[in-house]
Amino acid sequence: MPTPILHKESLIPGKTSKLVLHAPHIAQKAHPGHFVMLRMSPTGERIPLTIADTDAANGTITIVYLVLGKSTALLETLKEGDAIPDVCGPLGHPTHIEKRGTVICVGGGTGIAAMHHIAKGHSRAGNRVVGIIGARGKDLLLFEKELSSFADELLISTDDGSYGHKGLVTDLLRDRLEKDKTVFEVVAVGPVPMMAAVADTTRPFGVKTTVSLNPIMVDGIGMCGACRVSVGGKTKFACVDGPEFDGHEVDFPELRRRLSAYRDQERISFDSYNGCAHGN
Ligand SMILES: Cc1cc2nc3c(=O)[nH]c(=O)nc-3n(C[C@H](O)[C@H](O)[C@H](O)COP(=O)(O)OP(=O)(O)OC[C@H]3O[C@@H](n4cnc5c(N)ncnc54)[C@H](O)[C@@H]3O)c2cc1C
Ligand code: FES
Repeated sequence: MPTPILHKESLIPGKTSKLVLHAPHIAQKAHPGHFVMLRMSPTGERIPLTIADTDAANGTITIVYLVLGKSTALLETLKEGDAIPDVCGPLGHPTHIEKRGTVICVGGGTGIAAMHHIAKGHSRAGNRVVGIIGARGKDLLLFEKELSSFADELLISTDDGSYGHKGLVTDLLRDRLEKDKTVFEVVAVGPVPMMAAVADTTRPFGVKTTVSLNPIMVDGIGMCGACRVSVGGKTKFACVDGPEFDGHEVDFPELRRRLSAYRDQERISFDSYNGCAHGN
């Protein structure tokens, strides 16, 4: 169903944008951890994007995307007042949230936006939220203001040291776990290498670690098998069994291999789109 864009904001010019969509049916049912599948044309591919926020009273959902290839480049061409032709959701299982104490929520890159929704859910449930966010540099950090408005603490790292701790989110995480024995769970959303590194960091501490996986999805409703991941030696489908799983059980090398399986085709598709878009 065509879904109007009420508000568009460029978070990192040309790279990352935030859209507020009028989607009352989705907004009413969506919880942290859910995602939507959207399609830019009747013959185009469907792509999954996490719901980064909801406002049930105003009937809106927020999505944040990184422009990577053809579908996200097409999405980036839309403006306020335009409509996305096809948005389906909420999909997947919502995050399991209960009041238990201190939770550390780690976000990297565009994953910070998705992590923000999960962290907000934990805060609303009465948990003490420690946010840890990281990016290559200060200008690539997202959602700092939004997270600061409810997180009990927000720790920041940048690879180049332009803001906060110079280094990785896992440095801050390890340091916090060494000092704080009350943490009941660590949640991580971001690039696959970051989520794998978070799971490696928490393993010796024995702290439950939840990661939100982003395999290639085609239908998003459990029919095609594209989103197959291995968790604890068992096959799972991220769209219907996840997208959140126990980070200590995920086969991350397999996920990385499967994510890059169509890289040549994706490049050809993007090059051809760019050629047409620029009249070549
Ligand atoms: C549950 C879930 C939630 C996600 N949430 C977000 C989000 O909130 N913001 C965001 O920027 N990205 C998110 N992603 C990733 C996003 O779906 C891909 O970046 C997008 O599909 C890329 O499409 P493209 O045509 O622009 O790029 P392409 O050139 O087609 O692909 C670029 C890379 O994106 C991945 N990818 C490609 N097609 C898909 C697909 N159909 N499904 C999943 N990954 C794909 C592959 O690793 C590929 O190499 C999420 C993925 C999943 C599975
Ligand atoms: S995307 Fe098709 S089974 Fe999950």
